[in-house]
Amino acid sequence: MPIARVTRRVHFCAGHRLYNPDWDPERNRSTYGACSNPNGHGHNYDLEVTVEGEIDPKIGYVMDLRALKNLLGEAVLSDIDHANLNVDVPWLQGVVPTTENLAVAIWDRLEGRILNARLVSVRLWETERNSVEYRGD
Ligand code: NI
Repeated sequence: MPIARVTRRVHFCAGHRLYNPDWDPERNRSTYGACSNPNGHGHNYDLEVTVEGEIDPKIGYVMDLRALKNLLGEAVLSDIDHANLNVDVPWLQGVVPTTENLAVAIWDRLEGRILNARLVSVRLWETERNSVEYRGD
């Protein structure tokens, strides 16, 4: 069977502050710049989740993207859309909410919950120019 990769793209808005509580404000400032401002700031994120699998010969899909859409809604977006990533999300507690750490945490939310296809990539766009891809490594 041919193997293909399919991607679902979703959008969410969230606020965060890049700040390591183990460091003093000066070190946070020198590391994160304005991203460590005390009251935080927001982003319009785009999230692309790619899965890989055989194209089902009868259906013609790798997987039903409605199922991926629903999983993203239930396992990820319901917790982080319009949230403060530093305080509102139980599965982000204890991590600095950088794009890198958020991509890894989203991967961990999805892995093992996708049926009939293999999760291969989580790409998170924090701005139009900056994105992070995590592939489970
Ligand atoms: Ni930011």
